[in-house]
Amino acid sequence: MAIVLAIETSCDETAVAIVNNRQVESSIIASQIPVHQQYGGVVPEVASRQHLETINHAIAQAMDQAKLSWGEIDGIAATCAPGLVGALLVGLTAAKTLAILHKKPFLGVHHLEGHIYATYLSEPSLEPPFLSLLVSGGHTSLIYVKECGRYETLGETRDDAAGEAFDKVARLLNLGYPGGPVIDKLAQQGDPQAFTLPEGKVSLPGGGYHRYDGSFSGLKTAVLRLVQQLEKDGKEVPVADVAASFQQTVARSLTKRAIACALDYGLNTIAVGGGVAANSGLRKILQAAAAEHNLRVLFPPMKFCTDNAAMIACAAAEHLSLGHTSPMTLGVESRLAL
Ligand code: KG4
Ligand code: ZN
Repeated sequence: MAIVLAIETSCDETAVAIVNNRQVESSIIASQIPVHQQYGGVVPEVASRQHLETINHAIAQAMDQAKLSWGEIDGIAATCAPGLVGALLVGLTAAKTLAILHKKPFLGVHHLEGHIYATYLSEPSLEPPFLSLLVSGGHTSLIYVKECGRYETLGETRDDAAGEAFDKVARLLNLGYPGGPVIDKLAQQGDPQAFTLPEGKVSLPGGGYHRYDGSFSGLKTAVLRLVQQLEKDGKEVPVADVAASFQQTVARSLTKRAIACALDYGLNTIAVGGGVAANSGLRKILQAAAAEHNLRVLFPPMKFCTDNAAMIACAAAEHLSLGHTSPMTLGVESRLAL
């Protein structure tokens, strides 16, 4: 399956992309961040309406940029789960309509599969098996990618996702939304050794939990207590130092579990995906630790870490080349296991 047009509308980006054998021909990402910023987070109803207003223009732009005709498109895909139901419906319905109109194979894609395959955009030779470290606003997972469509979750977060922790800490430091990029930038001016914060150890294994689970809510609470204590003592909060210490703690915690998991399962490649894959602290710490253990770490190109449609096209291309398609009756799901 060579050329795939994909649509991604699971949250607050209206994204359309055309990918030809892991090569991005066009990628449109119409971000709604400024619209939601005034509410401090994504408002589902507002997101659906924004997608509706933007989607047709984004499709036209993607086709224009790629300089392709509909006859040259081999398949059409859209994210079908998980995400905001109203938002997902806009993209999925648009994709189905295009597939019927232009008589193309159609496929619904799991959003996390998109993040897993985002690394294909920077690494043409990557093939399973590999370990996916998926760190986004909603997920923190270690996934054993055995082959296209065969995944085993080996670790998750037991509470907050990594990106969610960044967003919550940014909110309590009054840095706005989304928090990850702001903390990342500030952390570069701060001292990561300024404060010792808990890495959020979890008892391993048992209780129906995965062996490489993690936890970030304790870390978030520790940052809150630290800030409250500083304020109580009448001290100015050294925001850059707090950001740097927090970021380093998250990066170390993710790195430890990813490396242990890869070594235990004999997987020599870790492919990182999701918004937090853009984090400079995680990139540095994980890369250094992997080098020590002779493991290969791959990251998606920076602009394809956060939500985009090129990653959905990559995942769809893998499935479509295996002959997988979805029925036109396919619905959306707010939650769906991989
Ligand atoms: O993958 P994504 O776009 O959406 C989900 O599927 O959740 O990830 C968004 C998350 C947000 O929580 C955002 O704060 C975080 O990724 N993020 C970052 C960075 N850029 C985005 N976190 C840390 N450092 C960054 N540079
Ligand atoms: Zn995502």
